[in-house]
Amino acid sequence: MLRSRRVLVGIGGGIAAYKVCELVSTLFQAGAEVRVVLTQKAQEFITPLTLTTLSRHPAYTDEAFWQPMQQRPLHIYLGEWVEVLVIAPLTANTLAKLAHGIADNLLTNTVLASTCPVLLAPAMNTDMWAQLVVQRNWQQLLTDSRYHGMGPGSGMLACDRVGPGRMAEAADILTHIQSLLHTNGQRDLVGKRVLVSAGGTREHLDPVRFIGNPSTGKMGLALAQAALHRGAVVKLIHAPGIGDVPPGIQSVSVVSAEQMRQAMLEQFAEADLTVMSAAVADVKPADYSTQKLPKRLLPASLPLTPVPDILADLGRLKQPHQRLIGFAAQTGDITSPALQKMQEKKLDAIVANPIDQPDSGFGSDNNQAIFLDTQGRQQEIEHCSKLQLAHHLFDFVRALY
Ligand code: CTP
Repeated sequence: MLRSRRVLVGIGGGIAAYKVCELVSTLFQAGAEVRVVLTQKAQEFITPLTLTTLSRHPAYTDEAFWQPMQQRPLHIYLGEWVEVLVIAPLTANTLAKLAHGIADNLLTNTVLASTCPVLLAPAMNTDMWAQLVVQRNWQQLLTDSRYHGMGPGSGMLACDRVGPGRMAEAADILTHIQSLLHTNGQRDLVGKRVLVSAGGTREHLDPVRFIGNPSTGKMGLALAQAALHRGAVVKLIHAPGIGDVPPGIQSVSVVSAEQMRQAMLEQFAEADLTVMSAAVADVKPADYSTQKLPKRLLPASLPLTPVPDILADLGRLKQPHQRLIGFAAQTGDITSPALQKMQEKKLDAIVANPIDQPDSGFGSDNNQAIFLDTQGRQQEIEHCSKLQLAHHLFDFVRALY
């Protein structure tokens, strides 16, 4: 998703500047062409040499901006070159300048000389962030659709305060950049409520033993992030072990298929678009022991009982304005069983997902699939990252609503 893509990272004068080194390094390693612009005060926290080394390209400062022109003015060149511009950390000062169209350094001039999506990751002291004037600037800036905000998270700040003001994590900024490169900043899911299920449910025999599956929830998480970055209000119902859910996504944690069913049923009526990517158990142990069973009491064979099919239940409840998408984890022939599942469960579309291919499916960062829908459309998605596959799926289902 990042190979040969042109990303400009603007760094403001805040302590979170040190975290941006990781972002720049990861962008470079993923194959992106990275250019870095430091404000004058950013250089108090981090040196141009560090960023030059990590991006393999001279980092730009205001000094370069004001030098006699070699070719075209630097801000015009960079503004035309860049595909996604990221400002991290965004200080109260740069935020105020952008909100009022002030251009008095290389970074702010480059923003005004570009037309690409701009991703903003503010970081500052809690009281600074809470100031009415700062909030007003932030809200005003976000009314312009080219600006995409990753509001600061809460936590321990460098000023020893605990509260909102922490810059978004580098990994989450990276994912958002990838989304913006795919969509070019289009928010086609604004006003839509998207419900996603993720991960593998666990059907316990006793408090320590369960029947499970290798799902890690990465596909569901990618779907939730892609939907969020496209402007949706996103709810994620997830099984254990999927790691931290990024800020902005409302999540409910469940363990068993029955708990997932309850949570999905509670949220479903509100959802415009539901994607059931969780690997839900088909059966559970017939008996559950509240105490851990000693080894000698473990049964030689395990009686099993079916668990309800959540997706089929949702298909029965679906209203005309709602769209329901399922996954079909398949080996061998993937298309015909997927089509059958789509019909039986009354879905609008299904992702036929081969799980017997190298580096895709369960646990992998990558995936491949064939999308099918009730209008007879079929689209094959070749091996790509799960985030990319998620975006392809939202592109595909756009024709359905
Ligand atoms: N699913 C569900 N509830 C279940 C089992 C599956 O909601 N108890 C959903 C999955 O989340 C997926 C779709 O149904 O979106 C298909 O799941 P899959 O495991 O591929 O198929 P099954 O319907 O379980 O059929 P089979 O195991 O026979 O292939």
